[in-house]
Amino acid sequence: MSYRSADEELERSTNRVMTIGVGLMIAMVAIFPLYRWFEPSNRDEARAANLESLAHQGEELFALSCTSCHGTGGEGGIGPALNSKQFLQSATDEQIELLIAVGVPGSAMSAYSLDFAGPLTSEQIRAITVFLRSWEDDAPDVPDWRNPLGE
Ligand code: HEC
Repeated sequence: MSYRSADEELERSTNRVMTIGVGLMIAMVAIFPLYRWFEPSNRDEARAANLESLAHQGEELFALSCTSCHGTGGEGGIGPALNSKQFLQSATDEQIELLIAVGVPGSAMSAYSLDFAGPLTSEQIRAITVFLRSWEDDAPDVPDWRNPLGE
């Protein structure tokens, strides 16, 4: 093989690689706006799916740890009615999480956070809060939610 034909061979293969590279670049530039278009809805869907799975986890934890005082559907008992529209509308997620975490000293409501000698991780407390929040849309009117037994 002469030098000349080796050079030509090299040039041909370089051109081939460059053509492929330019083709890929054009494809990426074209795909990017499409990606940008679909990405936000993917994020929303992922968020909704994650909240749903958290609520599910929260439902199980609530059944295990909270129903004895707050009722199976959160309608209250020894403890306040947590399904109350007025309660859910007046409390933020942060407030609810904090209440579950530290409890109410001097009452039957003990601290549930591992940080305060309770049994639950902050992730589990978050899951319960997401579950309680899922009641809000069709929560019953219970303005006197701290006194569900009417005593
Ligand atoms: C042994 C009974 C008991 C158990 C079990 C219990 N609670 Fe409570 N909870 C109470 C009582 C009583 C109060 C009211 C405390 C007070 O304000 O005097 C309360 C208050 C609360 C509040 C505040 C409501 C308000 O009016 O601001 C939240 C939120 C709450 N509990 C959530 C939970 C969750 C979630 C669980 C399960 C992890 C749980 N509780 C388990 C008895 C209980």
